[in-house]
Amino acid sequence: MSSRWVVGVCGLSLLAACEGRQSVLDPAGEDAARLAGLFWVMFPAAVVIWICLAALFIYVVRINPVAMKRGWAEALIVGGGILVPTVALAGLLSYSLPLMSLHRAPGDGLTIRVVGEQWWWRVEYWPEGAETPIISANEMRLPSDERVDLVLTSHEVIHSFWVPALGGKTDMFPGRETSMSLRALEPGVYRGQCTEFCGASHALMAFEVEVMEPAAFDAWLEHAASPAETPVDAAAERGQAVFQREGCGACHTVRGTPAVGEVGPDLTHVGARHSLGAGILPNDPEAFAHWVRDTGEIKPAVAMPAYDHLAETELADLSLYLEGLQ
Ligand code: CUA
Repeated sequence: MSSRWVVGVCGLSLLAACEGRQSVLDPAGEDAARLAGLFWVMFPAAVVIWICLAALFIYVVRINPVAMKRGWAEALIVGGGILVPTVALAGLLSYSLPLMSLHRAPGDGLTIRVVGEQWWWRVEYWPEGAETPIISANEMRLPSDERVDLVLTSHEVIHSFWVPALGGKTDMFPGRETSMSLRALEPGVYRGQCTEFCGASHALMAFEVEVMEPAAFDAWLEHAASPAETPVDAAAERGQAVFQREGCGACHTVRGTPAVGEVGPDLTHVGARHSLGAGILPNDPEAFAHWVRDTGEIKPAVAMPAYDHLAETELADLSLYLEGLQ
């Protein structure tokens, strides 16, 4: 393969990375569209500056490698080193600063509070006027075409909240609340990722965001507020017994059951989520069994111990119980 081909293929694969559910260049919300617009102004500007400097460099080194007259050299320093950067940076700054106002624009009523944990996301929905939140974890659902307020904080270390297809990035600090707002436009499933190094499993701290039509979102939120479904078959019932016997309820809540722990993610509707383990495993019975048996192998240094002493049948029953928490 000639080098021209290699460059072409690499270039095309880079362009392919611009699409998809975790790309700033494929915006699905008002905020992300603004940021993508900023990129498409900054990027060509940077390319033009780079081409001019490269051309100047080639001219003085290869085409005309003679000492420059003093007056020309001084003009180059003052013009290229002071005037042009000042004008270019002032122009870009005055274009980009007003774009930031949207990041803090007031929402339309719904507030979602997200707490960064090692290495998962505690998610609380506060509809307008609510006195208690609807608690979930490791995924976020948003109504389309509505601006939603996000209140962000952290439990132990600094994390950073970012859903590239929907908007900008905001750090999450222990003991402090930061805020931003988002207006998602296109229903779909997008991916967010923690973008501040927060320990051994930082790279495994992701989440899905589902943008829903407002009516579908309201129906989903109503269901999310309801207690867990009772097991429908014998295997799931045995699974619930394993869950209770092993003390899972000391760390996890399954609303409507004796499990009221708040150390780990709320599991009331865990079977209906897009992923397990904060965006790293699919949501199916095999993945539940894999996670419960091998937590530390899947997510190094995670707080949940591996329940590798459970028999295969117990793991299978437990998985069916958890998957049934729809
Ligand atoms: Cu949380 Cu990186």
